[in-house]
Amino acid sequence: MDTLLLETTAKAMVAPGKGILAADESSGTCKKRFDSVGVECTEENRRLYRQMLLTTPELGKHVSGVILYDETLRQKTDDGTPFAEILKRNGILPGIKVDTGAHALALFPGEKVTDGLDKLRDRLAEYRKLGARFAKWRAVITIGEDLPTDSCIQANAHALARYAGLCQEADIVPIVEPEVLMDADNTIERCFDVTERTLKIVFATLKEFRIHLPGIVLKPNMVVSGKQCPEQASPEEVAKLTFKCLKATVPAEVPGIAFLSGGQSDVTATLHLNLMNQLGKKPWAMTFSYGRALQDKALKIWAQNIKSSAAGQKALLLRAQCNGAASLGQYTATMEQA
Ligand code: 13P
Repeated sequence: MDTLLLETTAKAMVAPGKGILAADESSGTCKKRFDSVGVECTEENRRLYRQMLLTTPELGKHVSGVILYDETLRQKTDDGTPFAEILKRNGILPGIKVDTGAHALALFPGEKVTDGLDKLRDRLAEYRKLGARFAKWRAVITIGEDLPTDSCIQANAHALARYAGLCQEADIVPIVEPEVLMDADNTIERCFDVTERTLKIVFATLKEFRIHLPGIVLKPNMVVSGKQCPEQASPEEVAKLTFKCLKATVPAEVPGIAFLSGGQSDVTATLHLNLMNQLGKKPWAMTFSYGRALQDKALKIWAQNIKSSAAGQKALLLRAQCNGAASLGQYTATMEQA
């Protein structure tokens, strides 16, 4: 394990004014996204879509890294250049999703645990050869009447820690993603409690498993009201409670926090990030690792003419620019008119 390399890579992932593009949708998730815009989800169409995203001129000004899916890491542009190579040329770090999805946790109805540890050491060695410098593993925590259970959080924390150790052994920075879902009808206070409990268990487990914290990036949810909750907290409240929760749980050695968007609208996700970065001193960087909140508009526009890239790229670049500014607390609504 090269701790200096891990630390340098992790710092680069959360460099000032930059964040991460999550483009690692599995083929199943990609089908859902493509269905919503009427594009057939073939391997070639997925390649064309990812080519559009990854060849966006100037993307490297605001994006430090892109998370890819196994298929995408092996794909090439029209002229035969591997996607990982295109990213490297633009100063962007290639990353790879290595979990194999969240599946039902046996004997715990309504709860999930993430799979993917089998043969992970061998897979990481191959991904490293293909150019991956960091990885992602997403754990899913569901809020319900008596959920989540500590057993579910512990099972997921254990898997995250084992994944993180294997990544660090291979000189790959692990993105540790324990996502508390925002789909239920819970209040923001309940989201705060569950997120706090989850992060406490996750960091205790990472320490127990000897994870080198300066060589990871945390990818948490923001503390928000559940989507079905009649009372929706204001952006200021979301920023305040998210910041409070992270300050109480995330050790100062962690170089950066890169949020998921989790179903927030694109502008809302930008606004929340911006407000948090205006709240004062913090030991870690706070930036974005958005999927939908970066891609939604670009996908809609691209779907109108999948052989052409420019218009979709413009939409992606605008979101990257706005979120890059938000990671410094410098986003303003006028930037949306650019
Ligand atoms: P969203 O920003 O769309 O939630 O995706 C981020 C991600 O990578 C989830 O694992």
